[in-house]
Amino acid sequence: MPRQPVTQRKIAEHVQRLGELYPPIPLDSVDRTILDPRRVAARFGHVIDYLARVELEVDRNVLELLVLLPDVDDTNKTFYSDVWQPQEIQHGLILDRLQTDLGRPPAQPQLDVSFRIKVLGALAHLKPVQDIAKLLYFLTGASTERQAVLAYNQLSSGLAEMGEQAIAETIIRPIKQQEPGHFAFYQMSATAMVQDKVLRPWQLFLARVLRERSYNLVGTNARPAYKADMGQVATDLGIAADLAGYAREIGRVEHRLLWADRQGMDFPPYILAALRESVELYRERLDRGLPAR
Ligand SMILES: [Fe+2]
Ligand SMILES: [Fe+2]
Repeated sequence: MPRQPVTQRKIAEHVQRLGELYPPIPLDSVDRTILDPRRVAARFGHVIDYLARVELEVDRNVLELLVLLPDVDDTNKTFYSDVWQPQEIQHGLILDRLQTDLGRPPAQPQLDVSFRIKVLGALAHLKPVQDIAKLLYFLTGASTERQAVLAYNQLSSGLAEMGEQAIAETIIRPIKQQEPGHFAFYQMSATAMVQDKVLRPWQLFLARVLRERSYNLVGTNARPAYKADMGQVATDLGIAADLAGYAREIGRVEHRLLWADRQGMDFPPYILAALRESVELYRERLDRGLPAR
């Protein structure tokens, strides 16, 4: 079935609707009842810590966006300043308080913009580079938001299974409801760029090369320690049992937009490679007898 073209108007309406439908979740809307904090901490403490950190890093993501896309348009500005940042920061604060309620230390978000991004940012003042950076930015958003959706799904069913209704229903459920709208924004934005042929063939070629070389799973920030942490998240959430299926899920958008003409490819191989690397780094950490985090 042919897809409907994605217009800029449609994207702008989507952003406006998200703002109206989903105000940031207030801290005091949460029921802080926990039946068995030790059991929750043992099973999902690490996952909650990882998610809290990633959500709190939204402030760095906004700085990166401003560095990478100096000429950001109104729709993008409204999205990050009125919808995305206010929602994500509440996710972070709520999850971080949950983990202190579980007796764990607060998350340590990494808020400095990396040198790599600064270099890209300097180049992004050139219009052709800016368009490549923009597409990569949207693809990253689509992939990371999809990972958030899947993680919260797993987490909420795990917590419900444990009988931790208050956490599942007053924390994870409202957070989980806000992530698909973020995903849709990035997905539509990336689709519009490719469909409108904003990038010339050489720019698309470069986008593919850069994506292949710089793909990072959500929150890993290109650091081995965070990659190992992510490997533990995948393991604790039961994702590690089917990495290929998970790669397909989180790589669907870029597979369609960047790699659709590649025969015999089901999903971008660099995504599966990143997942395997994370799980391996986590196993190595276990083998070295380092304490669980
Ligand atoms: Fe979030
Ligand atoms: Fe999100």
